Amino acid sequence: MSETVKIIYQGKEYEYPVIEGTMGDKGIDISSLRLDSGLITLDPGYKNTGSTLSKITYLDGEQGKLMYRGYPIEQLAEKSSFVEVQYLLLYGELPTEVELEKFKASLKDYSFVNDRVRKILNGFPSTAHPMGVLASLTGSLTAFNPKVVDVAHAADMFHAVTRLLAKFPILSAWTYRLSKELPISESDPSLGYVENFCQLMFSNQKKDFKVNPVIVDAIDKLLILHADHEQNCSASTVRLVGSSHAGLFTSISAGISALWGARHGGANQAVIEMLETIKTGGGRLQKWVDKAKDKDDEFRLMGFGHRVYKNMDPRAKIIKKAADDVLEQLGIDDEVLDIALGLEEVALKDEYFIERKLYPNVDFYSGIIYRALGIPKEMFTVMFALGRLPGWIAQWKEMRQTDQPIGRPRQIYTGATTRDYLPMSER
Ligand code: SDX
Repeated sequence: MSETVKIIYQGKEYEYPVIEGTMGDKGIDISSLRLDSGLITLDPGYKNTGSTLSKITYLDGEQGKLMYRGYPIEQLAEKSSFVEVQYLLLYGELPTEVELEKFKASLKDYSFVNDRVRKILNGFPSTAHPMGVLASLTGSLTAFNPKVVDVAHAADMFHAVTRLLAKFPILSAWTYRLSKELPISESDPSLGYVENFCQLMFSNQKKDFKVNPVIVDAIDKLLILHADHEQNCSASTVRLVGSSHAGLFTSISAGISALWGARHGGANQAVIEMLETIKTGGGRLQKWVDKAKDKDDEFRLMGFGHRVYKNMDPRAKIIKKAADDVLEQLGIDDEVLDIALGLEEVALKDEYFIERKLYPNVDFYSGIIYRALGIPKEMFTVMFALGRLPGWIAQWKEMRQTDQPIGRPRQIYTGATTRDYLPMSER
């Protein structure tokens, strides 16, 4: 007999089952609560509320653990590749050699982007933030793929998913080219997924142009680390939009917009801006830690804290080490990394951060690597979106293929009670 919980309200007793996940996480199934008792639950920001069952990603915030389809992130970051992780997230298993080669070939086959998308791109000023451009270009793909995905039809689902995965790095790199007023680059199907993205970003029309393999390896690892993170703000947005049966491209476009916020993926750009401000201000770390603690000051230590992790974000640990390695390999001595390391040390000794279990998150060190790779800070969140794309798609696909109801939360109304319309003369 599974566990249950009881609620006693106005003298009546209501009993609800406790659902247990395969890794031991538990939740109360309250799906009949309002019907039974007239009550709803209230949980702003859904801090205590699960929206779905899912088989994709598991994370333990207290232990600082993260795994995709059961594989620990540390092993995937060390041994896998971003394209292989895309396949794993989408189809649930690591691909065989044949499956992986077929998947890679499909990604190359679908990498054509309609010329009209270039015209849409060129309609933006070079000063437009790349995230806004990327959200628009992604939504515009609907115009060229109007057929709504038949999620029950495996081939239809495969084509839609592969089409988006194939075009996204091109659109992402084009937002960079636009921001630098560089000519639009062309995809090179002879290259691997990440190498092609790098050449799309950095190619300089010289025939002998080659991407530095150190840069490709570092970006591949970063994209693996960003690939999914269960029901975060942007993944929940993708699920909610998709639950209305809106199309895949428009649902992902909504996810890009949600990720852009400084509390979410936009934090990686905000971290570097914060570190640069600290550096120009003389690097007085305690002053900034005190500022972050001051309730009257809206400043927050960007890249610190997490809704779920109450321990070091396992991705931050890996990225911190990778930052060291990349800077060394590229022979870069970046003072901003030293400031970040110093800030982490000061904050983690401070009672305020210890008490609230505020640790560096995935965004705290990632920007330092992107900077070292020559990626401008306005592109940092685009890099996050490129990594998160397979996770968003996997979440959308799972939601549609398990036929979830349309997402429609309730509320507690605290506005004016019923009143009659006032004629103008009486207002
Ligand atoms: C990502 O959810 C995911 O999985 C997201 C993500 C993913 O992979 O998809 O991991 C990616 O978005 C990482 C987070 C990136 N954002 C930032 O680094 C922005 C800075 N962090 C904060 O804004 C905050 O920590 C959040 C938004 C990340 C989490 O906010 P919560 O869970 O709503 O927590 P909270 O704001 O209620 O904070 C609890 C307490 C508060 O103090 P008290 O009211 O208890 O006194 O901690 C304080 C907060 O003021 N606090 C911070 C702080 N973060 C929380 N104080 C100073 N600096 C901070 N960064």
